Amino acid sequence: MRNEDKISEVRRSVDIVDIISEYIPVIKSGRNYFAVCPFHDDHNPSMSISPEKQIYTCFSCGAHGNVFNFVMNYENISFYEAVKKLADKVGISLSFSLSATKSIRNPNEDIYNIYDVASKYYQNNILTNDGVDALEYLYKRGFTNDIIKTFGVGLSTRNSLTKVLNAKNYSEDVLVNSGISYKTNGNIYDTFTNRIMFPLCDLEGKVVGFSGRVYKSNDNSKYINTKESEIFKKGKLLYNYHRAIESCRKKKSVIIVEGFMDVIALYMVGIYNVVASMGTAITPEQARLLKKLSSNVILCFDGDKAGNKATMACAKELDKIDIRPKVVRLPDDLDPDEFIKKYGKDKIMDYLENPKSLLDYKIDEYKKETNFSDSEDVSKYIKNILLELSYVDDKLIREITIKKLSDETNVSIATLNGMLKVKKKPEKPKNIADKKRLSKYEKSERMLIYYMLRSKEVIKIYENNKCYFPTQKFRYLVSELVHYFNKNDNMIIADFITYLSDKKELLDAFNEVDTMNVSENYTYEQIMDYIDNLKEYSIKNEIKKLTYEFKKETDEIKKIELLKQISELKVRV
Ligand code: GTP
Ligand code: MN
Repeated sequence: MRNEDKISEVRRSVDIVDIISEYIPVIKSGRNYFAVCPFHDDHNPSMSISPEKQIYTCFSCGAHGNVFNFVMNYENISFYEAVKKLADKVGISLSFSLSATKSIRNPNEDIYNIYDVASKYYQNNILTNDGVDALEYLYKRGFTNDIIKTFGVGLSTRNSLTKVLNAKNYSEDVLVNSGISYKTNGNIYDTFTNRIMFPLCDLEGKVVGFSGRVYKSNDNSKYINTKESEIFKKGKLLYNYHRAIESCRKKKSVIIVEGFMDVIALYMVGIYNVVASMGTAITPEQARLLKKLSSNVILCFDGDKAGNKATMACAKELDKIDIRPKVVRLPDDLDPDEFIKKYGKDKIMDYLENPKSLLDYKIDEYKKETNFSDSEDVSKYIKNILLELSYVDDKLIREITIKKLSDETNVSIATLNGMLKVKKKPEKPKNIADKKRLSKYEKSERMLIYYMLRSKEVIKIYENNKCYFPTQKFRYLVSELVHYFNKNDNMIIADFITYLSDKKELLDAFNEVDTMNVSENYTYEQIMDYIDNLKEYSIKNEIKKLTYEFKKETDEIKKIELLKQISELKVRV
């Protein structure tokens, strides 16, 4: 069986509506199903799912595809991983054929297995005699046995894991590569010894690294992390992501903190919609992950200066993807963990339930730096706030803030307003609903493809009356379509999408046409009209080209020849 057939078999064995509803709630309405699109910030059900065509389309952000695309995008995994996932679900075995095409057999499988062994090994250590002190340290910090288990907390002891893994026949190279071991002077050692081990997981919850904390020695690095590897890229992960998904959906918000100890501390008081950036500045990828968890993001970084810096940087990154986060500012330079120890559960709940808007947070920070009896300080304060306000779209918020500022500084509202220069945000031409007006030819090419996607007959008509498509992406799409059709007798749209899956531009072109709101019925004349229009386009184009050559040409005989060609063409349009 060909790989493509196998993939189609997987696709046909699942129902897109069932699969999507495992991820998000869907509602039936008429022939289709609808859902709130998880791929952009929305509250309306703008994603439609067609059980007939086995595809989904979001009319607001343009996300679209078949069941594989949904799983790929939702889970942030590759096409082949998505196929594999669904195949496993319906019990279709793929291993032989897919490894032959692309690397479905994960080349990093050894490393994943090593981490699996390591994680179990460390967790076991902490329950032995070696683990007494470590457990005592954790209990002192408020850990319970349940929490230790949930987060897979373990203990690294004296050089022993490398030996265990060696005995399992993992080569030294692989062990060093994985980051579990390191080599000096030809000898191999455990990377982590005598540290409390916190597993770091990928988006699916597979262990891909560790962070080890000192707990009794005076080692000057408090934490040591696994080095970056093929499977461990710190900037692409958020600590606790996989565990937080459920709770973020329920709570309709996500809290981000700096350290993973803070995540665990919040868990201990029953707050589960929380992830950590693990101490580094948030990356664009992490910002996207946050948005995936919820568009309602609450920043709760450490209460110190560094925490303020991290807050600003994170807000800036989120702004790029249209998220305005809320901010919780903890007092006395405390981190969430310390805050909870000092003030208790109710107080942290109180803080988290009343986050500030980013604007108010920034104003508060400026206020802290200002000496209100110093005119220059006050002037600087006003300018800073007016600059912030210049980016605020909401007129009411601007007015409220100006009023407050005037009361606070005794500068008149008129003066403040006079100084405020509102910056207009450039319009985003994103919404696919606002399409530009199309020319007759552009319309014809789209309509023709629309019906080609729906009927073999139309593809045949086209094959007998080949014409040129003005727009490149549609030209390519048609060529794929014809190719696909000639290889497969049946035109199944969802399978055609699979076939396009690694050609994003064509997938978009497909979607642009497939979602047009036009009748499914056509007549032969209508199809021929489209084809004639496209032929007319080619001829006009040719005339244009020849006319240009004619004007450039100096040789009289050649000029006459060109003129003859032009007039022959003109008769045809
Ligand atoms: P505790 O001191 O155990 O409460 O941890 P914390 O969460 O308060 O740590 P801190 O605020 O100092 O740092 C936040 C995050 O930065 C941690 O979760 C780590 O991921 C990271 N981090 C902190 N210290 C180190 C370090 O010495 N080395 C490395 N690689 N990372 C660190
Ligand atoms: Mn801490």
